[in-house]
Amino acid sequence: MLIKNISNGFVHPVSSEITPASVYSTRRQMIRAMAGGAAGATLAGFAARDVFSQTATQRPGKLAALATTKTAVAGGVTMEKPTEYKDASTYNNFYEFGTDKSDPARNAHTLKTTPWTVEVEGLIKKPGKFALDDLIKLSSLEERIYRLRCVEGWSMVIPWIGYSLSELIRKVEPQGSAKFVEFVTLADPKAMPFVGSRVLDWPYVEGLRLDEAMHPLTLLSFGMYGEVLPSQCGAPVRLVVPWKYGFKSAKSLVKIRFVEKQPGTAWNKAAANEYGFFSNVNPEVDHPRWSQATERRIGEDGLFAKKRKTLMLNGYDAQVGSMYAGMDLKKFF
Ligand code: MTE
Repeated sequence: MLIKNISNGFVHPVSSEITPASVYSTRRQMIRAMAGGAAGATLAGFAARDVFSQTATQRPGKLAALATTKTAVAGGVTMEKPTEYKDASTYNNFYEFGTDKSDPARNAHTLKTTPWTVEVEGLIKKPGKFALDDLIKLSSLEERIYRLRCVEGWSMVIPWIGYSLSELIRKVEPQGSAKFVEFVTLADPKAMPFVGSRVLDWPYVEGLRLDEAMHPLTLLSFGMYGEVLPSQCGAPVRLVVPWKYGFKSAKSLVKIRFVEKQPGTAWNKAAANEYGFFSNVNPEVDHPRWSQATERRIGEDGLFAKKRKTLMLNGYDAQVGSMYAGMDLKKFF
């Protein structure tokens, strides 16, 4: 179902998987609920954000009731307080909409998320195109609170909604020759003002090794904070790979391709010496231009506060460390 929130221009699919009919029985009720959510949003400013980003970040809709309302806390490090929604939705990297942290919240309202199809192709037995609603229904949705650590030195704690990407991968049956998964995101110059700029090679592409993509922590996410994803956070579907630097978590996915060779990725192509293919969060491997030993939590740590220590693999070492046993993580950064 398609709901257009007239007050802020966001267009979002509403799936019965996200909102049981018993909760929002009529379209009118839904629209009322969404308007309430928007009006109730707190729009206080944060550092680089300006008045434009504040008006552009009204929430997409109070679609909180999940099929399962239990919080699945994966990773063992996630009992930290989630970042405020207003911070998580106004301090973003989504270069298709601009390079300033406040640009995505200001500009991403032009992203049209319906209809939306994700094509799954390459070295698999069951290739196909998934309409967004079918993709959402493929497995039961969970809420998972994950840290996201950006390569630039900041972090957030976000309650994501989605399911393990492995659920989809199992259904499409990878062939033996499939060793990597490539994630291609939308590059629509009409909706995305910075596609065509020379900052990156578009579309924004990311990649994982097949075992990383299959790891249960790797999340295909459709929402956050009990609601559908706001456009600036990668609506309508994105990846969340919590033990890797944030740029591996590709937003607004349109294609998932299974390949034999390690795919070229947007940031690796832009600066291979700065952004490796693995990009595992690692306090012991500095970025060539800055240390990765510490981080600043967005919305909590002020500019002059002491930074907090970055944890190996973003705190998910116990869960994912074995995938890198014997690898020289300084070489394969
Ligand atoms: N996906 C696309 N398509 N385009 C981007 O510019 N930026 C990445 C990643 N996914 C990016 C993207 C980077 S650098 C980070 S840190 C995270 O998204 C930020 O996610 P957030 O804005 O939800 O915190």
